Amino acid sequence: MSEHSAPDQAQEASPYGSGAAATTAKPVKRVRTHHLREMKERGEKVSMLTAYDMYTAQTFDEAGVDMLLVGDSASNNVLGNETSLPITVDELIPLTRAVARSAKRAMVVADLPFGSYQASPEQGYLTAVRFMKEAGAHAVKLEGGIEMAPVIEKLTQGGIPVVAHIGFTPQSEHTLGGYRVQGRGEAGDRIKADARAVQEAGAFAVVMEMVPGDIAGEITRELDMVTIGIGGGNQTDGQVLVWQDAFGLRTGKMARFVKQYADVHGVLLSAAKEYVADVQSGAFPAEEHTF
Ligand code: KIV
Repeated sequence: MSEHSAPDQAQEASPYGSGAAATTAKPVKRVRTHHLREMKERGEKVSMLTAYDMYTAQTFDEAGVDMLLVGDSASNNVLGNETSLPITVDELIPLTRAVARSAKRAMVVADLPFGSYQASPEQGYLTAVRFMKEAGAHAVKLEGGIEMAPVIEKLTQGGIPVVAHIGFTPQSEHTLGGYRVQGRGEAGDRIKADARAVQEAGAFAVVMEMVPGDIAGEITRELDMVTIGIGGGNQTDGQVLVWQDAFGLRTGKMARFVKQYADVHGVLLSAAKEYVADVQSGAFPAEEHTF
């Protein structure tokens, strides 16, 4: 089995829903940094979604999503926190491990949590190594532009592919004064300088969050690294969304940049209500569910 290939043996599915799929998998080539660069050169768009567990990772991988981000957004989408700030490295590593074990083709990118890399390049390197060694991530993502260049340099020189994240950076929401577009007017020059700095430091890709579309487009055309937008318009090389927003597991007000593709909350709610009604009426379990 090559390092690109998926396990080749058929496995029986557990009646309890755990473990690998029951089909014999074809060898699959893992998406790597050079594939993404080649996609940019060919003008092919890169798709990225968040994932935090086995089944979403398998499903999104099967759908052809190129990059899976185990975001620190797990903090407020999985762990019940209000923001992305409280999640720890120890909490994010098991989620990353589950996604890395489950995705056969997608590149798995682990987010470095708030406070786990800002103190020094050495701190950042040691945290990133944990995600690569203990969780099987293929790359890491960290927030910040010019000021993070020394950290990005340390990681990339140490063999760790880095995705930078500029524009609105949720870990700094208290400094930035809440969720607001970054880089309007003269501030656009700062975003462009951030993009240049993270590329020069060695980042192979950059997430640009809530950045005016024309600025994101300019950066995309001028720089070699792969640009991935979230609220950055359609001129970037790729797009990322938080899956609970895009597929409607989360309800309530959505950011303007979110397109909703499904109503997973509605599907789960009606299934759960039907189950409750069946249990209450005695319709479940029926004869065919009984040994
Ligand atoms: O943690 C996350 O989900 C992210 C995306 C918003 C890009 O950083």
